[in-house]
Amino acid sequence: MKFFVINGPNLNLLGLRDPKLYGKDTLLDIEEWLNEHQKTEGHSFLWFQSNHEGEIIDHIHKSIDNAKGIIINPGAFTHYSYAIRDAIASVNIPTVEVHLSDIHSREDFRKKSVIKDVCIAQYFGLKKLSYLKGFKKLINTLI
Ligand code: DQA
Repeated sequence: MKFFVINGPNLNLLGLRDPKLYGKDTLLDIEEWLNEHQKTEGHSFLWFQSNHEGEIIDHIHKSIDNAKGIIINPGAFTHYSYAIRDAIASVNIPTVEVHLSDIHSREDFRKKSVIKDVCIAQYFGLKKLSYLKGFKKLINTLI
């Protein structure tokens, strides 16, 4: 099965960006690590990162014919992008929301996700493991 892994703004700076919160791994490190984890199971990931809301929405739309599930870390868009929420709801592809940091123990504005209700699960605070948990949840949902 094919899965989209979508990463939002500033996640291209992982490794450099506040390692205490987000870990030392770069986005490429996380990509290689997750790809390695699922290799034996015959699934594949298409990784995408953008700092632009419209590009993320366009990519979510592409899932219609190209993915069985979506893992998304919308970055700060999590907290206010109704447009990304609507895109996820529109494509009707099972989606999990993931975060490296514990958004529920940080600033108040991070505690709210406008994406959560259109996703089948939300994983946070586990650094790169949040992505693996999200993937496992998708697999369990789809099989
Ligand atoms: C994040 C949490 C968001 O609040 C923040 O804006 C990010 C990263 C995370 O993975 O912990 O960019 O999504």
